[in-house]
Amino acid sequence: MEREHGQQLLSRADRIVVLTGAGISAESGVPTFRGEGGLWKSYRAEDLATPQAFAKDPRLVWEWYGWRRALVGACKPNEAHLAVARLASDRDGVSIITQNVDGLHADAAGQLSGSSAQRAMPLELHGSLFVTRCTVCDWQRADRDAIDASSIETLPHCQRCGALARPAVVWFGESLNPQVHERAFHAASEASVCLVIGTSGVVQPAASIAVATYQRGGAIIEVNPTETPLSPYAAVSIRGRASVIVTDLLNAPK
Ligand code: OAD
Repeated sequence: MEREHGQQLLSRADRIVVLTGAGISAESGVPTFRGEGGLWKSYRAEDLATPQAFAKDPRLVWEWYGWRRALVGACKPNEAHLAVARLASDRDGVSIITQNVDGLHADAAGQLSGSSAQRAMPLELHGSLFVTRCTVCDWQRADRDAIDASSIETLPHCQRCGALARPAVVWFGESLNPQVHERAFHAASEASVCLVIGTSGVVQPAASIAVATYQRGGAIIEVNPTETPLSPYAAVSIRGRASVIVTDLLNAPK
């Protein structure tokens, strides 16, 4: 019943935002942050994912990001990433917005050809594990290099000004890139459906993106094995794993 309602809402929508979190990548082998086995169960965010942590101990922070790079770099997009990429390439008016820094939406887009791949590229709200940027100037580059955190000298450095570089991810206490923020909320406030996949909905402003669609009279469809703070806003909540539910929702006959 919920599934059919979700399919109907999606087929009638003129603009769709797909908002994703760590849960969409869980079945690719990427650890989530909260819940059983979540990264924040074993590590303290304030020691590893804040500007203060980096200022205090850049080697420790880079070591952790190097470990995550190696782990995530070996993961592949799953059926849910692929179904979302096909949706964005097949239909006009679809925006993919992700909190994930794992690059798997971009990898899924990369499996499509030419202009289809471009249409399926996500807006990465929290940056990327695979982009490095300077702590002083505006230099940045995409790379998948292994990180040598044995000394400050071996950490990544800016290739323009020589200063220490850092992962181009958004840490706790930092603001989103203003253009990315503006594009995300603009898309959400014009969407008739926001399909929310695998997020705990507790990190702001990301969670408010779905609420922006709700407030303009659009519908939230939530895919998550558990209830979240976004569930009360959802017109349709489907409890289950992304790879099963999302493919089922999106591969329905038109
Ligand atoms: P969380 O780890 O907080 O939440 C993951 C969500 O995915 C939970 O609600 C799970 O129930 C759900 N989930 C787990 N397995 C799933 C599956 N197979 N299919 C569908 N859903 C599944 O991750 P996020 O909500 O993405 O930010 O976390 C938001 C932000 O908090 C992250 O971007 C990161 C983190 O700290 C920063 O680092 C700034």
